[in-house]
Amino acid sequence: MNTIVSASILSADICRLGEELDRIKQSGCDHVHFDVMDGVFVPNISFGVPVLAGVRKHTDMFIDAHLMITDPLKYVGVFADNGADMISFHLESNSDPAAVIREIKTRGIKAGIAIKPGTPVSDVLPFVSSVDMVLVMTVEPGFGGQGFMHETLSKISELKAYIDKECPGTHIQVDGGINAETAALVREAGADILVAGSYLFKAEDMAAAARSMR
Ligand code: DX5
Ligand code: ZN
Repeated sequence: MNTIVSASILSADICRLGEELDRIKQSGCDHVHFDVMDGVFVPNISFGVPVLAGVRKHTDMFIDAHLMITDPLKYVGVFADNGADMISFHLESNSDPAAVIREIKTRGIKAGIAIKPGTPVSDVLPFVSSVDMVLVMTVEPGFGGQGFMHETLSKISELKAYIDKECPGTHIQVDGGINAETAALVREAGADILVAGSYLFKAEDMAAAARSMR
């Protein structure tokens, strides 16, 4: 599958978000990755619904909302109504995963399920055939700018082998510590949606950085 480059606006200059969204698009990135943190599921708070609505108003790019929150079932509707094209939530959250997937699909958008570095792939397998994407976190969720955890590579390969056999076409997303070097490793292992925050936004030439991830 072709590599999809997704820019995490957690690393954007939030005071100039409109210009940052334009820069993402002009640089040839494919998706806007929108990280939602509730301060409970992860030890950080980011941004939420009003910011998503503003982003939706500004850009026609595909928006991927990554919900790092304890109760995703309660909030899927409002994120869908405010412009998310895909919503991913964590297997480790408090909601029933099958119910959350159903709720996302009911809204007519794409569904993703995410696992933290410490969660084995076997835990997510029962849900893989009912989602569009599985997000294998390559850092502990909560903060941008962390180092890539190499021990997650074998999880990506294990998941890729399952997907090839059981539900080809399901995407594998990675998120955390992705740069030109780690992008090559995760692509080789089977990931095709690569999220990057600090690597893209700190680059002098964002377009070149995005190309280096493909
Ligand atoms: C971390 C977030 C990521 C974050 C990645 O919890 O889910 O999307 O923005 O940032 P980098 O690419 O800087 O590791
Ligand atoms: Zn994310």
